[in-house]
Amino acid sequence: GMRRKLVSGNWKMNGSLATLAELDGIAAAAAAAPNIDVSIAVPFTLIHPAALRVPGLAIGAEDVHDEDAGAHTGCVSAGMVREAGAVFTIAGHSERRADQGENSHDAWAKAAAARRNGLSVILCCGETEAERNAGRAERIVQAQIEKSVPENATADWLTLAYEPRWAIGTGRTPTLDEIAAIHAIAREKLRMMIGDCAADVRILYGGSVVGENAAAILSTENVDGALVGGASLTAAKFVPVIEAAA
Ligand code: G3H
Repeated sequence: GMRRKLVSGNWKMNGSLATLAELDGIAAAAAAAPNIDVSIAVPFTLIHPAALRVPGLAIGAEDVHDEDAGAHTGCVSAGMVREAGAVFTIAGHSERRADQGENSHDAWAKAAAARRNGLSVILCCGETEAERNAGRAERIVQAQIEKSVPENATADWLTLAYEPRWAIGTGRTPTLDEIAAIHAIAREKLRMMIGDCAADVRILYGGSVVGENAAAILSTENVDGALVGGASLTAAKFVPVIEAAA
């Protein structure tokens, strides 16, 4: 399939009303790169002001609850973030898995809730360092995809992100061959689950992507974009990643 590249930021638990000013330069770079898609996930409290500030930029949530409403103190539903202006959410990020004990089944339920409420989904997978050292990275990623991708998934709303946990925020990345190997396996797993439309599903790489390494990573086979944490916090760092993808 012909897959447009997608570069998505993820602010994690960073940012404020004041730092939303960074979105102006990011939106300008996105507008100057009409051949790719650019989006950015921000904390819940910043979704609405971000969506109002940069209507041309796709704003997303970093997580949603798997139910549409109910007695879940402190949680936020997909419908709520949609109403606030989000057009997508991340699901199954490794920090949610590590900090909140979420598993691939939870990610599946969150992806389904997001879809039900009109959001696109960036669904995350990726092995730990111990799993990679034990030679289990490929099987771990296959199992995560098996358990987390909804059966009715299509490229219209589902994007996969491969993020090896040991590469997140560390400045370390896998080799390009290692990235290509996992992405190929991920696409084949998707094909077995959802058929030929797996060829149209974008598979992002995430983990210490910065302006300096983005071009090489983004030109790797089956890499259809990047999920960028630290380097998405400022326009000065994120714009070079957008330009490398364009
Ligand atoms: O969602 C983004 C990833 O966790 C990557 O984070 O770019 O800070 O390594 P990072």
